[in-house]
Amino acid sequence: MGKMGRNSNRNSGTGIGDDDIGTAKLIEKFDRLVEKKGITIRDADNFKVMENVFDDQTLLALYKLVNKGKISEIGGSISTGKEANVFYAEDGDGVAAALKIYRIQSANFNTMGEYMAGDPRFSSIRKSKKEFIFAWTKKEYANLIRARDAGINCPQAFFFDRNILLMEFCGDKETGTAYPQLRQAAADFTKSQGEEIYHAIIADMKTLFNKASLVHADLSEFNILFDGEKHIIIDMGQAVLPEHPGAVRYLIRDIKNINRFFSRFCEPLDDEEIFKDIVGTERMQP
Ligand SMILES: Nc1ncnc2c1ncn2[C@@H]1O[C@H](COP(=O)(O)OP(=O)(O)OP(=O)(O)O)[C@@H](O)[C@H]1O
Ligand SMILES: [Mg+2]
Repeated sequence: MGKMGRNSNRNSGTGIGDDDIGTAKLIEKFDRLVEKKGITIRDADNFKVMENVFDDQTLLALYKLVNKGKISEIGGSISTGKEANVFYAEDGDGVAAALKIYRIQSANFNTMGEYMAGDPRFSSIRKSKKEFIFAWTKKEYANLIRARDAGINCPQAFFFDRNILLMEFCGDKETGTAYPQLRQAAADFTKSQGEEIYHAIIADMKTLFNKASLVHADLSEFNILFDGEKHIIIDMGQAVLPEHPGAVRYLIRDIKNINRFFSRFCEPLDDEEIFKDIVGTERMQP
């Protein structure tokens, strides 16, 4: 393939920041670069999607990452979420990766703000939309590193740049297919397998809280993948420190989500018992 999609009628009113070349020129440059470097764009139509979805600055940032050799392949789209798109990619050494790009335009700031505001790591100054999304991306990167350092099975974060996060690809590297979410994978679970994974996830919540000092805050069967043997916790942008004013509420919500989902496999533990076990009775009250 080797070509990004054409962009003949893409109209762009805005410049692209410090480099200040129009989008058409940028894409042309991108095309030449792709040819020169022999970058494989697995699916030109997918890249066309990128051109339509992302703003010029994001395309430019991607271009620079390809140019610097930090990304060597951009493959098909894996997911289009509320705030971000995820693509198959490869890092500079050809290691399979997931490329998560937060959309600056369509992101839902009202709900995101709540998770950022109470976090002493990121709450410094009022930010523009763009700065906010950059900080969010950095927060997801930092959270993934913290979680993994604590021993949680989550994607290894490779790097972030502006609103772009590159991390380990969790899936079949040959086909570029991501592992299924728990909600799909669980259809094949036996009761005892379900029960085992249930307890492992509760143990992860405890590890996250006590070793990584994090509450996931969006834990559910949607944000857990399953590789056929083990579960993998993903999507950590909203995870907060225990000091966050919403931390208790988020933790209880996470517990309830997990208990609801796993009640089909086993008698779930009491919400409050789990909470006390995770937090310790002195530390916080539900
Ligand atoms: N590291 C990864 N490896 C493989 N697939 C991934 C990886 N990260 C994400 N995905 C795929 O992309 C989907 C969406 O990812 P994620 O949950 O992180 O973002 P999201 O829910 O779209 O985020 P948001 O709702 O904040 O926009 C996942 O369900 C999974 O299918
Ligand atoms: Mg998600």
